Amino acid sequence: MNEPAAAVHPDPIATLPASFRWGVATSAYQIEGATAEDGRTPSIWDTFCRVPGAVVRGETGDVACEHYHRMPDDVALIASLGVDTYRFSVSWPRVQPGGRGPANPAGLAFYDRLVDTLLANGVDPWLTLYHWDLPQELEDAGGWPARDTAYRFADYAGLVFAKLSDRVRAWTTLNEPWCAAMLGYAYGVHAPGRRDFPAAIASLHHLLLGHGLAVRAMRAAGNGDHRFGITLNLGTADPATDSDADRDAARRADALGTRAYLDPVLRGSYPADLVEDLAGDGVTIPVQDGDLDVISAPIDVLGVNFYFGQLFSGAGGEVTPVPYGDRPKTAMGWEIVPECFTKLLLRLHRDYPGTPMVITENGAAFDDEPDAGGFVRDGDRTAYLAEHIRAVALARAEGADVRGYFAWSLLDNFEWAEGYDKRFGIVRVDYDTQVRVPKQSALWYRDMIARTREAGS
Ligand code: FCB
Repeated sequence: MNEPAAAVHPDPIATLPASFRWGVATSAYQIEGATAEDGRTPSIWDTFCRVPGAVVRGETGDVACEHYHRMPDDVALIASLGVDTYRFSVSWPRVQPGGRGPANPAGLAFYDRLVDTLLANGVDPWLTLYHWDLPQELEDAGGWPARDTAYRFADYAGLVFAKLSDRVRAWTTLNEPWCAAMLGYAYGVHAPGRRDFPAAIASLHHLLLGHGLAVRAMRAAGNGDHRFGITLNLGTADPATDSDADRDAARRADALGTRAYLDPVLRGSYPADLVEDLAGDGVTIPVQDGDLDVISAPIDVLGVNFYFGQLFSGAGGEVTPVPYGDRPKTAMGWEIVPECFTKLLLRLHRDYPGTPMVITENGAAFDDEPDAGGFVRDGDRTAYLAEHIRAVALARAEGADVRGYFAWSLLDNFEWAEGYDKRFGIVRVDYDTQVRVPKQSALWYRDMIARTREAGS
């Protein structure tokens, strides 16, 4: 499907092959609820939600979408959309309370049932091991800035793999380590809410070390039938103007936000300019002998989460994102720039060739207005999805090896520090009744998938 003609196809989406994977994505803390059931212990998010002012309106994931108790119905909903893949995450403190020691059979049993129910409904499970819910005890022991957490993560990965690898083929280690490290340990806006830049850089390294250790351990335990990967949040970082200062700001942003993850995982080294920038700030990445060999353990797929691209200014010696200005925004205030998505995928294809990509998240929050029956005519979200899927198809037409697309998110859910205010679901959740109603975007997605499967080669 790489013929250049596809780039000028009147409907680029129609050029996607029948084998293209379509999915929906969620994560454990954002939907499960049941945070104190069946032996689960608190994660850093349970703790953070209780810090006054940390989350809008003091909301928590205690109940969320009650997915823990509504799982069979939710899987039926997923199947009704005609997707072939469901990306979910496993809650570490549910399956290994406290983050050490043996598995908790009751916690593992939930994911065991989820996987069986998905397979029985013809949906492929795509499992993420870490979507930000570190057991609180491990944070108390130092958290991600402590090297030992990487080893704890690999142990935990082994427990989940031992239970589910007979049925789950797709294994993602981490979701968006940039967010876990920077939002959690440098900016303090996500759990655990620390503001300590050197600690964030140590976290970055230990997250990646944990990824590499887990891939190594799981690949050794597997039978060759599994696909391992990592999911990164990636965008574009362009200079606001052609000035040297702005170009250097964009380079720095790209180094710290993007290459700091891609280079060690896919090339086995940290970027030299990043190391130099950090040294200028008096910060060193705590690399020990052999770490980069572990971190660059071969992966089978790169998960790409895309929401926006950014322009950077270097005015006053600072690296500051500046708006495009003329773009519509989502309810998160994120500018809608689908052409940046195509540009990103082509850049990944050019700079990091040889690793197939899957879009593991893409989507948008808007201020939905349900009608009396709870139906949401979300033309804005539908257009966002269509434009971004088109952007993926255009990148594929120019050679980018993208194998699938998963919409974020299946359900409205707990959007971290934004609480329940920001709705990303293609299915509406009424939090008073827990009733789910597919939005117009879900119906469009379902029909688009069906058409693509019929038309695709
Ligand atoms: C990503 C997260 C996901 C969700 C979306 C909107 O950064 O992986 O959990 O919050 O953003």
